[in-house]
Amino acid sequence: MPENVQDALNSVPFRVTDREKIPAERYYDPEFFELEKKHLWPRVWQMACRLEEIPHVGDYVEYTILDKSVIVVRTHDGVKAFYNACRHRGVRLANGPGNCAKQGFICPFHGWRWDPQGECTFVFGKEIFNQELLDQSEIDLAPVRVEFWAGCAFINFDDNAPPLLECLGPVVKRLNARHVDKLRMDWWYGTILPTNWKLAMEAFMEGYHVMQTHRQLFDLSPGSAYGPDADGVLPAPGASAREVVNKNIDFMARLSTGMAGMVHETEVAVLEKLRDMDVPDDPMEAMMAFFAQAQADITKDGFERGAPMFDIPKVNQEHPFADVEFMFPHFFLLPSFAAMSSYRIRPLTPETCLFEIWSLVLRPEDEEYDTPSEPTILRYDSNEFPEIPKQDYSNLPIQQLGLHNFEYMRLAKDQEGMISNYQRLVDGYLAQLDDETLRKAQNTVNCGYNSPIHDIGF
Ligand code: FES
Ligand SMILES: [Fe+2]
Repeated sequence: MPENVQDALNSVPFRVTDREKIPAERYYDPEFFELEKKHLWPRVWQMACRLEEIPHVGDYVEYTILDKSVIVVRTHDGVKAFYNACRHRGVRLANGPGNCAKQGFICPFHGWRWDPQGECTFVFGKEIFNQELLDQSEIDLAPVRVEFWAGCAFINFDDNAPPLLECLGPVVKRLNARHVDKLRMDWWYGTILPTNWKLAMEAFMEGYHVMQTHRQLFDLSPGSAYGPDADGVLPAPGASAREVVNKNIDFMARLSTGMAGMVHETEVAVLEKLRDMDVPDDPMEAMMAFFAQAQADITKDGFERGAPMFDIPKVNQEHPFADVEFMFPHFFLLPSFAAMSSYRIRPLTPETCLFEIWSLVLRPEDEEYDTPSEPTILRYDSNEFPEIPKQDYSNLPIQQLGLHNFEYMRLAKDQEGMISNYQRLVDGYLAQLDDETLRKAQNTVNCGYNSPIHDIGF
């Protein structure tokens, strides 16, 4: 590692020096939070909205991150993004979602106006200003970079950051194969968690917690990778081929109700029909035969319903994916068959964050559906949350409290590596490393669930 890089990293407070240990202060220290605000969030691509939130010309949303606010608007000339501030004296122009096709944006203070493309169309009493202050480029809404992927608009405040897809890396290809751009919302929830944003994300970065946190899933899973401690709850050895198939269907059905999606109910209906399928006597072969049939039948069902389907068996073979795919710094997609769940996490204060969840489906184009324009905001302990996120959320507030009483997290190097990998990338941003180094590291960090600790280049 070049000396200047090492020096820059050394200047980051509470940085990760041992890859398997994450210092606790990173989750509550106000100075650390300020450094993230100053050096991380202004330089990264952030999922600002799903494009289906703004289907018509003039539709816009407000995306907020810490003290910054951006308007993302669909114009006749494509989707654009602007800083959400009047060019006269700074008043915020948009508050939440809306449509500006008829009126454009009007500042409520002195009445300046902009068309949906951000061009200033009216300044009241122009002659009272020094004309140099009213150069058209000075009074048009200030643009923010915006690029598109996976049916979403991503913004970046850094004009020099590499393009979005180059930052995301290989994850793009494996999710494109799953028609990620054609996914549509089934529902959208949000909640404010009393935890640091990174802590909230990390609850979804490993499967090690399933045994204790999601016992209902663990009891139905065909086996555990985590050894002898779990013996008591493993399925009885010597389960018959039929039992293995049924258990897998039970597992998928429980996962589906537990997430209210991910494995969509239409997919579970297809799986239920396989309970009587002919399977080889060997349990392992039976399981493989079951999954092959399940993937083929769900594909067929999707095409028959007119969904913008892909060939699941072929794509799974050609583009192996992780059950939880992470796109640094704060966006997740969770593929299973064709449906997915999705998360976005945003910091609010050092010890609070906004956590959003979507259930996404490949819906037939002609199916009538009311797309939500805003998330339904629930308390994090609300019974309206599906079982699985509710269980995950229940740990987080007490983990945040516990962090104030210990030194560092100790990570399982082969299962909890994702946490170490992205945390060290955060340090790269706080050390203000160069764009190319950070881009390469991000390509490695976006590698998905249960991954081992990787070398990210610094
Ligand atoms: S502050 Fe917006 S018009 Fe004056
Ligand atoms: Fe979980």
